[in-house]
Amino acid sequence: MDINQQQDRELLDATRTFALDHQHPHLARFKPSIRDWGNSWEAVESMDLPVSTFLTEASDQATSNTQTLLQTFVRYSHRLRWEQSYRKQDGLVPDAMLDAYGFAEIIGLCGPFISDRIRAGIAIWGPQVKYPQHQHQAEEIYVLLAGSAEFSLDGSAAQTRRAGDLVFVESNRRHGFCTGEENLVVYYLWQAGDLRQTSNFD
Ligand SMILES: [Fe+2]
Repeated sequence: MDINQQQDRELLDATRTFALDHQHPHLARFKPSIRDWGNSWEAVESMDLPVSTFLTEASDQATSNTQTLLQTFVRYSHRLRWEQSYRKQDGLVPDAMLDAYGFAEIIGLCGPFISDRIRAGIAIWGPQVKYPQHQHQAEEIYVLLAGSAEFSLDGSAAQTRRAGDLVFVESNRRHGFCTGEENLVVYYLWQAGDLRQTSNFD
């Protein structure tokens, strides 16, 4: 195993352990996919985005539950590929979100650990960012690791979710949020749908 694969393997272990150790009724349905995500690794080209700097800050505030996960992401930040699902020219989300958002995926269709069963990684949004209501076929979990957000499901009244809270979004359910005064860092999971579907904003 070369050094890159070894470091990615530690990111994988931290990503899987976080979900497998986290106790929540909604998470139980995702655990089989986390256990049997697949078996192939492909090195990905690392990429940076401005939001990646917030990860260090979040890891300094980590609790005993999130410490290993966040610190492993900081330690191997040079291995991460920070991405966005949307582009300014498509006009699907506010420009302010694209200036302050990104995700780093560890398991998923695009690797580094290839899976057509589960998508897992970390995502960050800056303060006072609005992620408009959208939907996708995959069911989704957000575990908030730092910061807070006002979540709205199916356009209902927004509810505040804070670090430690979990939000479960069923397949094709409309959801969106506005972040609070701090950076929002989440652990995310997708399953049971196209793992790279562009969300629908109709
Ligand atoms: Fe979503």
